[in-house]
Amino acid sequence: MSTVAVSLAGRSYDIVIGPALIDRAGELSAGLLRSPRVIVVTDETVAPLYGARVYHSFKNAGITATLAVLPAGESSKSFASFGELLNALLDQRPDRKTTLVALGGGVVGDLTGFAAATLLRGVDFLQIPTTLLAQVDSSVGGKTGINMRHGKNLIGAFYQPRLVLADTDVLDTLPRRELLAGYAEVAKYGLIDDPGFWAWCEQNGDAVLAGDATKRTYAIEQSCRAKARIVAADERETTDLRALLNLGHTFGHALEAETGFGPDLLHGEAVGAGMALAFDLSAQLGLCPPEDAVRVRKHLAAVGLPVRLRGIGGDNRRAWDAARLIEHMRGDKKAEAGRLTFVLARGIGKAFVTRQVDETALHGLLDRAIAA
Ligand SMILES: NC(=O)c1ccc[n+]([C@@H]2O[C@H](COP(=O)([O-])OP(=O)(O)OC[C@H]3O[C@@H](n4cnc5c(N)ncnc54)[C@H](O)[C@@H]3O)[C@@H](O)[C@H]2O)c1
Ligand SMILES: [Zn+2]
Repeated sequence: MSTVAVSLAGRSYDIVIGPALIDRAGELSAGLLRSPRVIVVTDETVAPLYGARVYHSFKNAGITATLAVLPAGESSKSFASFGELLNALLDQRPDRKTTLVALGGGVVGDLTGFAAATLLRGVDFLQIPTTLLAQVDSSVGGKTGINMRHGKNLIGAFYQPRLVLADTDVLDTLPRRELLAGYAEVAKYGLIDDPGFWAWCEQNGDAVLAGDATKRTYAIEQSCRAKARIVAADERETTDLRALLNLGHTFGHALEAETGFGPDLLHGEAVGAGMALAFDLSAQLGLCPPEDAVRVRKHLAAVGLPVRLRGIGGDNRRAWDAARLIEHMRGDKKAEAGRLTFVLARGIGKAFVTRQVDETALHGLLDRAIAA
């Protein structure tokens, strides 16, 4: 078991990582609760797998727990579902000392966090992330929110949990594709500013994915440490620091937009392909040694992430088109006044944010990636 502290004045909390933690949720959180009463929010996939164990762990610690269950999937992050969740929570007559517990992936975490930020003007919440993506990314940093017709995550709040419990065992039931999608975000932290961790990933990525508990714990710990460090320095993304976490995301967002943000391309898969493209572009612009770009593409492909555009998007996508991908990039909420923002790199572990990317070069890169 290992612990990562997230240091934020007045809102600091721990991320505890290791096996069998969901059975200890009650014991590990009891001292933090403002009253012995929690409402566990989860989804229809996670509830039958882990709902009872979490419930009993609270009960054994003398904490009353009730459950609120949402349909699984991104559609639960809609404004309508958010309203339904708030009403379901209010049906249970919470008070301001009640704590919400998000048990699930990033969807449950983002929605529950935003519900906690607004229910009775704010109640505490805990995160028990059950996907790799949620353990290394969405449960860390306090971004919560929902999707709107205008785009994803446009309404929400920065709202930090009181505790995060990342149980490495629950990843055993996660479908392989979801696990891989989360792994792309793990590898991302190495590419941003930690070449040693990237090299570790090259050596140990397969073992992490195969279920090696010690290596899983290490990978999650390093990822959370990296994100916590960035979040502690730039909680509300007011500088370019937190934007480094978007490595691969400008490209990835365009690929997701083109595939309809659906099951044909998971977010983490898009980020994996996006990171490969970001390194290719960096190499093409003479910023990064070409061999580093080759290494990035090679490792991501070796673990099984789709990095070639040709292999992405299932049967439903239209043929890739560079101009249309660039249009999607412009529509990304991270684009400031229509100016494309990219995270590029001077090498592995040397990422930086830039708004000065020549569009002709970008177009050429995408054309080549589409043809490859
Ligand atoms: N807040 C942030 O900083 C942040 C960062 C990254 C992503 N996100 C958000 O996270 C969401 C994606 O999260 P996600 O990838 O975890 O998706 P998800 O929550 O939809 O989970 C993926 C699927 O796995 C299932 N599942 C969850 N845990 C399982 C387990 N242990 N065993 C078997 N099945 C399990 C879920 O029911 C779901 O069907 C997106 O909405 C994204 O916007 C937020
Ligand atoms: Zn991401």
